[in-house]
Amino acid sequence: MGGGLTGLRAAISLKDAGLDGAVVSKVHPLRSHSVAAQGGMNASLGNVKGEGGTIDSWKNHAYDTIKGSDYLADQDTVELMCREAPRTVIELEHMGNVWSRLENGKIAQRPFGGAGFPRTCYAADRTGHNILHTLYENVLDHEIPIYEEFLVTSLIIEKGHCQGCTALEIRTGDIHGFSSKAVLMASGGFGRIFNRSTNALINTGDGQALSLAAGATLKDMEFVQFHPTTLYGTNILITEGARGEGAILTNKNQERFMEHYAPHSIDLAPRDVVARATEKEIMEGKGFKGGYVHLDLRHLGKEVIIGKLPGIRKIALDFAGIDPVKDPIPVQPGQHYSMGGIDVDITGASKIPGLYAAGECACISVQGANRLGGNSLLETVVFGRLVATKIIEDIRKDKNTNATEKSVQNAIERVRTKINDILQRDGENFFKLRDNLTRIMSDKFGIFREKKNMQEGLDDIKNLQKRIDHTAPKNKEPELNQALVKFLELEGMLILAETVAKSALARRESRGSHYRTDYPARDDVNFLKHTVVDLKDGEMHVSYKPVKLGLFEPEERVY
Ligand code: FUM
Repeated sequence: MGGGLTGLRAAISLKDAGLDGAVVSKVHPLRSHSVAAQGGMNASLGNVKGEGGTIDSWKNHAYDTIKGSDYLADQDTVELMCREAPRTVIELEHMGNVWSRLENGKIAQRPFGGAGFPRTCYAADRTGHNILHTLYENVLDHEIPIYEEFLVTSLIIEKGHCQGCTALEIRTGDIHGFSSKAVLMASGGFGRIFNRSTNALINTGDGQALSLAAGATLKDMEFVQFHPTTLYGTNILITEGARGEGAILTNKNQERFMEHYAPHSIDLAPRDVVARATEKEIMEGKGFKGGYVHLDLRHLGKEVIIGKLPGIRKIALDFAGIDPVKDPIPVQPGQHYSMGGIDVDITGASKIPGLYAAGECACISVQGANRLGGNSLLETVVFGRLVATKIIEDIRKDKNTNATEKSVQNAIERVRTKINDILQRDGENFFKLRDNLTRIMSDKFGIFREKKNMQEGLDDIKNLQKRIDHTAPKNKEPELNQALVKFLELEGMLILAETVAKSALARRESRGSHYRTDYPARDDVNFLKHTVVDLKDGEMHVSYKPVKLGLFEPEERVY
């Protein structure tokens, strides 16, 4: 489920192994949110030397990632990802991906936040776009079936095994059933439960919500990443690659304020640090009217801006009427990424046999409490390939079973009845609920959190959950009913919002992206552990599980 980088990469491996796989995606694969990734993919290729002529290694990459995660990442999965990174970049090149180059012809690498070396491989500032097109062309070449504009509506679980799914064909309104020995969730993040987000409108966490409802566990849902530089007004991403190339953040007094917050890394501190600093400047009245600061690229010169950052120049021109060659870009923090997701082991298997997850919808957990820029594209492709290896192994060992014709028909019937009920009833316009939800999440579960506010937010979410059954889409036609799609998404979003709220309330410390003004310090004694959320008899339960340490001992994070 999902036609982004993870889903496409996995599908290629499954086909290469001779298995009969298909991609089911609610949009055309090239509209998956992976296409919007700008800055790049981390790998310790060592093509550009670090300070004092030092050469990068997978271990340096792992150290930066673990420190960046505020020690909440599982260190075995981080090691795996960092070791696999260089071959992943080269493999993509061999698949046809076009990377930006150094003068000597090697793949170019740029500095990124929280990284000790220039490690981020890029294709100007359209890296996700390039890789997605590369993988899509490979999928077409492999003749892998794609069910595009099919919204997955339920998982088929029989005797505790995931055996397939149902999906709404958006164009016709038909409900289809898929019987399969494995379902891979590769459905991306849930950023759209917030109202200021860089995420595509499709990022509503459908995979996480369906998995939770089917009995899977969600992990670390309180850790939501806010990107410091989103375009003021629309919150379109303005890549960290800009700061990697030398752009600086300034407040209304023209101060380079990051010097006060991260004296060594300055503008290239990790995202949680820069987002908090930026928000603080704005809250203290040092931002511009409306709530933004400036990202200044002018000193980079026209040639660098056009050559290396053409995408954000165009975004600034088209959406703010500003040419970064001549003027600073107005930016503010916005939701960008979900560190939490479906709890899976290092192979990508969830606790439900037959159900796997990888990429942003999963929590494997390589990103911990705060992801470093450039590690997301990496995670999608590395674990898209590796989870496929696990699926192939399980199927070959006959561990998985697929749904019988009867259980597929029953599942289809259940969804059909539910959708008919939704379409036949009248009620309040549910878009109001969606707006309320996203506002609550941004106001009460944003960059700075505190108990009273969060409790109010949770109460509000519970209220919205009660109201949804009294709302309905205005459009009653089965065909091309986008309102119905949005309605079904909202059901899941309301559940995910509760998981974020409860996990955030329960974690009485500050770590990575989760900053509590009432508990401003990290508390390794009580909270160096993953939060896990399960649904039992309709009730949500929060508990904890250990973090896998091993490579690096937790220490104070200083940048
Ligand atoms: O700023 C960026 O280009 C984002 C990169 C990332 O989220 O990894």
